[in-house]
Amino acid sequence: MTWSNDDIPDQTGRVAVVTGANGGIGLEVSRELARRGAHVVMASRDQEKAERARQDILAEIPDASLEVQPLDLASLASVREAAARILAAHPRIDVLVNNAGVMAISERRTEDGFEMQFGVNHLGHFALTALLLPALLESPDARVVSVTSTGRHSGRAVDPANPNLDGRYDPWRAYGRSKLANVHFALELERRFREAGAHARSIVVHPGFVNTDLQARSVRETGGGRSQRFFHAAVTRYGMTPARGALSLLRAATDPDAVGGSLYTPEWVNWGPPVRRPLIGRSRDEEAIATLWEVSERETGITFDVKPRA
Ligand SMILES: NC(=O)c1ccc[n+]([C@@H]2O[C@H](COP(=O)([O-])OP(=O)(O)OC[C@H]3O[C@@H](n4cnc5c(N)ncnc54)[C@H](OP(=O)(O)O)[C@@H]3O)[C@@H](O)[C@H]2O)c1
Repeated sequence: MTWSNDDIPDQTGRVAVVTGANGGIGLEVSRELARRGAHVVMASRDQEKAERARQDILAEIPDASLEVQPLDLASLASVREAAARILAAHPRIDVLVNNAGVMAISERRTEDGFEMQFGVNHLGHFALTALLLPALLESPDARVVSVTSTGRHSGRAVDPANPNLDGRYDPWRAYGRSKLANVHFALELERRFREAGAHARSIVVHPGFVNTDLQARSVRETGGGRSQRFFHAAVTRYGMTPARGALSLLRAATDPDAVGGSLYTPEWVNWGPPVRRPLIGRSRDEEAIATLWEVSERETGITFDVKPRA
């Protein structure tokens, strides 16, 4: 059976937070969750783009329940402020889609001095999830969706002695490392959910090869890097639409039968409908998973407390 948007169950009454909701895959995830009745918190950095995205959804779904919240994952202060605002408005959150990301950009640091791709793609989401956890644990069926990439296959475990790749930066190495971290984060979070008996599932997805701003931005931010230009040209020709790229995320976020601790990915790796696939090799390196968690808590100063509701 091919899973499609028609399979999304009614989301009325559910609250979903989507990062990077102002464009690309995040916008399409927001659109479909709203279409099914969820209240969607569009956590976004560029506010003008976020307002355009909100209007875009409203033009199609006039009764969509949407709320834009500013969030810059490259700033722990911004993550804290966003989490505090969201928690104040929503004592219960049912879905958190950690979608925002940057790919293969030139070497840069976040406000807190983290290597940018690790900081935005992983550490910012690590902090956001930890801070929103009390509200997620209020849900009878919470989902935390992490977004990886085939880039994870070239990723190496984080080195606790050099988490920011000082003197060892390479745009693709950094992307692969951050996307492997997304898998390791999802698996450890699922383990903690199970250990605590929480009514929550942590699931990781790869959206496929999708024609969004991801590749174009990597070209802009590297001043036209060669491999970045190659991927940009390829995705404009062969990439799936953002709506199709959103399907794996939507399945993980809504399918009643979606399995915690699993990977959902297009059937033919980068193309096709979303299916469940095994996680193998480095994805399951328990030592690397434990190290990532320690480094993430150390760098962000934020710890996880998975205490389910009574
Ligand atoms: N497209 C693909 O082929 C592909 C393949 C594998 C995995 N993915 C993953 O899919 C996810 C979504 O990417 P996409 O393809 O939809 O790319 P996109 O169109 O470039 O969207 C990326 C989103 O991330 C947001 N973002 C970037 N930096 C941020 C920050 N510091 N704080 C908050 N938000 C930030 C962007 O918002 P602003 O514009 O406001 O910065 C934008 O909303 C990413 O995690 C990416 O790694 C994509």
